[in-house]
Amino acid sequence: MNLKEGFFVGSNNHFYIGGCDTVDLAERYGTPLYVMDDASIRNMCRAFVGAMETYAPGGMVSYASKAFSSTAIAKIVSQEKMGLDVVSGGELYTAIKAGVPMENVTLHGSAKTPYEMEMAVDYGVGRIVIDNQSEVPILQQIAKRLEKEVRVCIRINPGIEVSTHQYVKTAAVDSKFGLGIDDGEALQAAKNISRCPNLCLSGVHTHLGSQIFEVNPYVRAVDRLTDFMALASAVTGVEMTELIVGGGFGVQYTIADPPTMNPKEIVKLLANEAARQAARKGIRKLRLILEPGRIIVAEAGITLYTITGIKAIPGIRTYVNVDGSMADNPRPALYGSRYEALLANRASETPKNTYAIAGRACEMGDVFGFEYQFPHPEVGDILAMLSTGAYHYSMASHYNRLPIPAVVLTRYGKAEPIVIRETYQDLLRYDRVPDWVHSKTV
Ligand code: LLP
Repeated sequence: MNLKEGFFVGSNNHFYIGGCDTVDLAERYGTPLYVMDDASIRNMCRAFVGAMETYAPGGMVSYASKAFSSTAIAKIVSQEKMGLDVVSGGELYTAIKAGVPMENVTLHGSAKTPYEMEMAVDYGVGRIVIDNQSEVPILQQIAKRLEKEVRVCIRINPGIEVSTHQYVKTAAVDSKFGLGIDDGEALQAAKNISRCPNLCLSGVHTHLGSQIFEVNPYVRAVDRLTDFMALASAVTGVEMTELIVGGGFGVQYTIADPPTMNPKEIVKLLANEAARQAARKGIRKLRLILEPGRIIVAEAGITLYTITGIKAIPGIRTYVNVDGSMADNPRPALYGSRYEALLANRASETPKNTYAIAGRACEMGDVFGFEYQFPHPEVGDILAMLSTGAYHYSMASHYNRLPIPAVVLTRYGKAEPIVIRETYQDLLRYDRVPDWVHSKTV
């Protein structure tokens, strides 16, 4: 296995992340435990922002906070000169509380509520990405009432297929996201927006999907979007300048995956392509915006579990039971996702056999995979699952009334919780018992 910088096996045979002994972390903070490394996140941010400064000055790298949203992470990416994408009032509230400059925030979503739009307008986010026609009059009304001018981009569905899991393809023709070019919907939206006195049409957006390793679909998207910008600007008389090409950049979870995409190469390619297309199509001013989520945080995170039991089915397989489940990682059940994993307290021992890792939820689908190699695992061993920084904590649930695990942030040997572990009391905090149930009057 190829370990990342700051992740190593110490002389005590323990696995380290961000200079911290994971066995100590498990003891101190309990398991399941999400661990995120500050330096790894910042390195990735710097690679993107540095490339943007070089190849597309004035552009913005906007972290898609759905990958991992918390106050500390929002502060970190913002300190690293990134913008922030939010897709809900909750993510927006997190950005507000983290002190992210609102002009660097973008509100997305295919089903924004009027309340969320109002919150975004009121706080003055940098732009709101319109996903369908219905949003236009609602947003205009809100902006008028609050006496604000709102910058608006149109989410385009360019009808470009990418090779990734069906559930994370977002730009096939039949998609719930974005407005079509060929069917005239996107142009109609541009016309409608341009007629709204409080809305300022600033650009176009697309997001092709997630966990993509090919660059060609992005190049085609730049071509289609700049075509649309030129056309819509001519038709509406409004000069659109923002070109948002989304995120989706692939990450290597297992050795079977292609290597993680290279931020510098992505930015360079898209910046050059955008400049070339703009020049060809008479677009005078173009601001490139990218929205990486997974690639910023995935490899910076691991999850620690305690092995609670081993169950052999002779002649078939051996299950390693852990104290986590699809409640802290729903990705294997949703997308068949696989990871690299190791025994953190015996990290230099050679793997001997193949095991299935079984989650503790009452679902047959709650298995983290069947092909993990370990040295003979024992009850009480700490299992580290790698590259779990994106779409794990952010997708966690309370299924089986499991409390959401804590998140600890490491940095060169220091460790601090950034999310406290929930308790059973927390789980019951919003429970109420109506009088008639309480007094058994039925
Ligand atoms: N921009 C928009 C508008 C998006 O919808 C997304 C992700 C991103 C950017 C960031 O994409 P990324 O760089 O993280 O691939 N839960 C799934 C991933 C869903 C992604 C949804 N949209 C998973 O665990 O694989």
